[in-house]
Amino acid sequence: MKKIDEHLTKSMFNLEGKVAVVTGGAGALGESIATALAMYGADVVVTGRTMQTLEESVKNIEKAGRKALAITCDVSREDQVINMVEKTMDKYGKIDILVTAAGIAKRFPAEDFPLDAFEQVMDINVKGTFLCCKHVGKIMIKQGHGKIITISSVRAFAGHPGGYAAYGTSKGAVNLLTKQLATEWAKYNINVNAVAPTIFWTPLTQEVLENESLKQIFLSRIPMGRAAVTQDIVGAVIYFAAPASDFVTGQVLYVDGGCTAG
Ligand SMILES: NC(=O)c1ccc[n+]([C@@H]2O[C@H](COP(=O)([O-])OP(=O)(O)OC[C@H]3O[C@@H](n4cnc5c(N)ncnc54)[C@H](O)[C@@H]3O)[C@@H](O)[C@H]2O)c1
Repeated sequence: MKKIDEHLTKSMFNLEGKVAVVTGGAGALGESIATALAMYGADVVVTGRTMQTLEESVKNIEKAGRKALAITCDVSREDQVINMVEKTMDKYGKIDILVTAAGIAKRFPAEDFPLDAFEQVMDINVKGTFLCCKHVGKIMIKQGHGKIITISSVRAFAGHPGGYAAYGTSKGAVNLLTKQLATEWAKYNINVNAVAPTIFWTPLTQEVLENESLKQIFLSRIPMGRAAVTQDIVGAVIYFAAPASDFVTGQVLYVDGGCTAG
């Protein structure tokens, strides 16, 4: 075996010179991820449905000393995804990293799940993730490299009695899409991996946080006994975005305090 190259080892997590796109860039996780990518050296494009909500993310990226670009894009609309990719290419001429952090959750008992709510979850979580991967993937194929990180959930791993017929199904699809793209695009030197967190206290999970007995049920399923915090997810995303993970593709990394271990 060759000796470890000190220079390569030290730069394993360096993202200087990289261009990253983060969808859902105004969301709790998306904003943290965008800021962390900038702190590790990347220029970051944040996308969301309205420009106003992206202002904070832009400020954070610039505070980290990197270039920021905000683009409005509903990920469930193919024309808007194409426009978002074109604008990014006009400004930067490449996309090295894509993080698909746009997502929604709707919970109802399966037997009463309104069809429009089910379809909305599928539209944003599954179709939206696919469309962003499809159009950024085209660019990455031409470039001959790229890192795609999808945001899944522990709800993709196993069922849960709390009304997750749409959300859990959508995240299960995200996991398989991740593996599918990883196998199709490995030959183009594109890594596709998923980060699948357990619960964070964000607007998406407010409903659980505000219900003490529900909150305790969720926490009792996590051996480490706490919800996830920002650093938990950004560490995993930086790993998949950086050269440290160059030989890792098609993986789902559960950031879950042991939730899926037992
Ligand atoms: N919060 C958690 O506990 C948790 C746990 C596991 C996985 N996740 C996943 O992490 C991701 C981010 O969640 P979050 O907690 O930051 O939620 P959040 O609600 O704070 O952020 C989600 C973002 O997605 C955006 N979005 C919704 N629909 C969109 C659309 N059609 N086009 C573009 N953007 C759209 C929202 O405006 C919001 O900015 C989601 O995919 C979620 O499923 C969250």
